[in-house]
Amino acid sequence: MATREEQLDAVEQFFEGPRELDRLSLMSEDVEWWNGLGKFPAAPGQTVFRGKEEIGRIVLGRAPSPPQPNGRPVDRYDLATRTFDDVRTIADGPFVFRQHTYRATTVRGRPYENVYGFLFRFTDAGLIDRIWEHWGTLEAYETLFQGPLVVHDPDLLLQTTPSVRKRLDLDRPVPREVIEECLDLAVHAPNGSNQQPYRFLFVDDAERKAALADIYRQAMADFVNRPRTDAPEDNIDRSDPASKRMTESVMHLARHMQDVPVLCVPLVAGRTDGLGEGAHAERTGALWQANRWGSVIPALWSFMLALRSRGLGSAWTTLTLVREREVAELLGIPFAKWMQVGLFPVAYTKGTGFAPTPRRPARDVMAWNGYAGEPE
Ligand SMILES: Cc1cc2nc3c(=O)[nH]c(=O)nc-3n(C[C@H](O)[C@H](O)[C@H](O)COP(=O)(O)O)c2cc1C
Repeated sequence: MATREEQLDAVEQFFEGPRELDRLSLMSEDVEWWNGLGKFPAAPGQTVFRGKEEIGRIVLGRAPSPPQPNGRPVDRYDLATRTFDDVRTIADGPFVFRQHTYRATTVRGRPYENVYGFLFRFTDAGLIDRIWEHWGTLEAYETLFQGPLVVHDPDLLLQTTPSVRKRLDLDRPVPREVIEECLDLAVHAPNGSNQQPYRFLFVDDAERKAALADIYRQAMADFVNRPRTDAPEDNIDRSDPASKRMTESVMHLARHMQDVPVLCVPLVAGRTDGLGEGAHAERTGALWQANRWGSVIPALWSFMLALRSRGLGSAWTTLTLVREREVAELLGIPFAKWMQVGLFPVAYTKGTGFAPTPRRPARDVMAWNGYAGEPE
């Protein structure tokens, strides 16, 4: 039987021993380590690690971690910078409990701090055969205060908010409170002079949705059959596989628009096409266009991000603007006062895992200190 002093010494070595000390040498062959979080990139969802090989590889980070879902490398803390404060240690039979505040700087230079509690169990030979690791209150925080979020990482949210069409769940109702919660977040977006010159009309009435879906399909036909010029934007080649998939997805949404639980028609006050009334009747220049669209689109995109963070999705569609007056009539929108942004289906998504949207990298679309010519 190991003495109390030997156990306490092993725990101290475990945390504060020299870096060269192999922590696995303090453990028995069939050691188990519980840490409850299930957040190791190399083992998502796994909360118990068994045996020295698995613990060395995943918990002690000996194998390189795979990139996180957002593509960022894992940032480790630099062991040379670690400190332990407020250390409390209690021994009871084969058990030793130690709580401390751990501080370190990460390899990328960020401060790290966490309060840990570790319960160790020792074998008769003085080796650790069980570790229970409690990490602050992160898990409880996420459960209690971030409950509805399915995407916690803002980088991942920005990278993985696609136009969802085929994966809209047409059978799962969307409570009005969820829409309101997302819009409550979205209204914090910037807008001209902070007048919030927008309205978001939501439609969950079956007849009105069916009428909107009809207008959408008719507008799509108008658009497809429009007179074309020789300009490249009128003659985009859509024969590659990605474009074919998109066309199929667009057609799927067009067929099912009426079945989507909620349709949203965002509006901005004033018109930029010369068809409005009041001051805006004359204001069709780029400044006024930028000011009008810029006063609604940031909030609309925030709304779409808030939806995605909660497991819902939408698709940006503008085709109904070909028949904007018909939508205005259907929903009682004063056409001369309000310009529509489009029609946005809103539903829970089928599954919540989405890959980053395929885009050209930033370096292809940026320039410094002046216009650097047409992007490739
Ligand atoms: C201004 C604008 C207008 C769009 N109009 C439509 C539309 O009328 N119908 C549609 O199904 N998708 C429409 N989209 C969605 C785009 O096709 C989609 O964002 C693009 O193909 C990239 O797909 P991803 O975001 O899923 O990667 C529109 C997007 C934008 C930003």
